[in-house]
Amino acid sequence: MQNLDYSRGLYLDLMKRCLLNMIYPQSEEAPSLATHSGFRGRLARTLLSGEEGCGGHISATKSGDHLGRMEGRIWPIVAHTMIGLKRLDNLQFCVDEAITNGVRGDLIETGVWRGGAAIFMRAMLKAYGVTDRCVWVADSFEGLPPPNTGKYPHDANSQLHESRELAVSLEEVQANFERYGLLDGQVRFLKGWFCDTLPAAPIERLAVLRLDGDMYQSTMDALVSLYPKVSQGGYVIVDDYGCIPACRQAVHDYRSANNITDEIRDIDWTGIFWQKGN
Ligand SMILES: C[S@@+](CC[C@H](N)C(=O)[O-])C[C@H]1O[C@@H](n2cnc3c(N)ncnc32)[C@H](O)[C@@H]1O
Repeated sequence: MQNLDYSRGLYLDLMKRCLLNMIYPQSEEAPSLATHSGFRGRLARTLLSGEEGCGGHISATKSGDHLGRMEGRIWPIVAHTMIGLKRLDNLQFCVDEAITNGVRGDLIETGVWRGGAAIFMRAMLKAYGVTDRCVWVADSFEGLPPPNTGKYPHDANSQLHESRELAVSLEEVQANFERYGLLDGQVRFLKGWFCDTLPAAPIERLAVLRLDGDMYQSTMDALVSLYPKVSQGGYVIVDDYGCIPACRQAVHDYRSANNITDEIRDIDWTGIFWQKGN
């Protein structure tokens, strides 16, 4: 048993290093985003000037900055996830707890980009020999929606839909799963806007719900459709709580409308999670 735990730990550690592209760090080197022309540079400069708070994952550090990538503060050039090491460690903790304690249900990420965090969830099922749960992979695979300010005024300043870097196709995400040998029947894709796909998704129960859709609307749509399916003792993780005020507001609005008082715990400078108690 000790040997199994040890080998599992080695595999998952190597998975995280690969997903974060710690293996070929030189391939992440590029000039500072703040000196770029075009949308990316504009957004980086706007964020730096403090006009919109942190507002996204871009920082002015060099894309090749190792610390920035490990902290999940920048959009990597090559790596398959932007969430950084602490949030991957937190995902490992939540999935491990759910499996070990027999919390019923599947795993889902809403907002997957290149697929890295969802790939890691599938790797965990593999490492624990779990064959009766699946990983749901929900995304437009076309980037973020333009803000619907009439319905969601908190999204009024969001420009993330203009960022083509956030549009990663279904085929590309599937190819990324395949590269790790993890594309199989235990991975189920939900392609489309959350408001269209999640209400009717054939998901029965969830043990881990990971939200990474950045906007108020994307966070709220996922909570409304999926939170009632999270098992007691299951985990809810919100990636953008600290850095995007609109996302934080959606979490507060949903929790207060549904009398959720489970303690919110910090993961790092932006991510939070809670364990569903009732
Ligand atoms: C910040 S990225 C996710 C990062 C990813 N979790 C990782 O591991 O690197 C946000 C993703 O959410 C998706 N997204 C945001 N809002 C959405 C919505 N309302 N419907 C569908 N996809 C959405 C975008 O297409 C994008 O892939």
